[in-house]
Amino acid sequence: MNTHRQKMLFPELSETAGTPKPVNVASIPQRSLFRYPGGKTWFVPTFRKWIAPMCPKPTILVEPFAGGGIISLTALFENLVENVVMVEMDEEIAAVWESIVNGEAEWLSNRILTFDLTRQSVIHELNKTSDTQREVAFKTILKNRTLHGGILAEGSGFIKHGENGKGIRSRWYPGTLAKRLSNLNQVAGKIDFRCSDGLRVMEEFAANKDAVFFIDPPYTAGGKKAGKRLYKYNRLDHERLFTICESLKGEFLMTYDNAEEVKELARAHGFQMRLIPMTNTHHSTMEEVVIGKNLSWMDGFPMADESETRSVRRKKKGTPSIA
Ligand SMILES: C[S@@+](CC[C@H](N)C(=O)[O-])C[C@H]1O[C@@H](n2cnc3c(N)ncnc32)[C@H](O)[C@@H]1O
Repeated sequence: MNTHRQKMLFPELSETAGTPKPVNVASIPQRSLFRYPGGKTWFVPTFRKWIAPMCPKPTILVEPFAGGGIISLTALFENLVENVVMVEMDEEIAAVWESIVNGEAEWLSNRILTFDLTRQSVIHELNKTSDTQREVAFKTILKNRTLHGGILAEGSGFIKHGENGKGIRSRWYPGTLAKRLSNLNQVAGKIDFRCSDGLRVMEEFAANKDAVFFIDPPYTAGGKKAGKRLYKYNRLDHERLFTICESLKGEFLMTYDNAEEVKELARAHGFQMRLIPMTNTHHSTMEEVVIGKNLSWMDGFPMADESETRSVRRKKKGTPSIA
């Protein structure tokens, strides 16, 4: 790849001489309808760096924990893969992706553009029984854009103050959402969406050499409580996920919390790891761990801390306890 193209694709990384800096997410095209807790917009430049040089271009990208889907959508819009398989277990989120794939983007767009959003109208809408997939989809978008942090899991409350004191309306941008829906309609034919268990779908594609995998499982940071607050489905057999990763014929890239148990699993399964900085919703910088078979293309990024693992391993017996 020539240097100019490389700089355009990876501006943050190509200029970096020392420690990598967190990505400014405002520089990344936002394709998704969702504001997604744990969303991977900040990871887009690294994802591009991984997938863009692959030759031939991968036929299929499998995203087993799709959520807001920014990685799959980026891959499609930037022509980095032919097709994507997106998997999400949460039925409400799934209704949005299914509606788009089933040709309801225009209906959704009109529904958003004509909805007069007030606290009362949102409460009225959310209390209504939704019989059709597209109505569930609209409700999900409404919830995602009016609930604090975009969190759909039970117990979430409405945005109180929001941007410029606009309160409940502060994340409701009908025109922007309609434009995104119109763009999504253009790539809908390339999306194979499954409301299913991501682990099962990974197994289905495990022997396919033309499939690559981007894996962003539900979070473990802060223990089970943190995962529970963000997602309805947060329990995962992490050991099984790593075992499936070992069986994949195609390349995979996995992101996780920088948690000791995760690093133990990666090491036990013979994978490589690098730490990558990101800015969280409280504007503080933290690190996530990137896991893969061969991460030599990430050589500018620090290795995950070996010494810490060794001292913890001495204290521990048996298998790591994340479930
Ligand atoms: C860390 S989030 C993914 C965020 C996504 N990468 C993004 O950028 O928006 C993990 C997602 O996995 C979903 N999930 C949890 N368990 C699942 C399973 N067994 N199969 C499929 N999806 C699952 C959760 O509902 C959540 O949306």
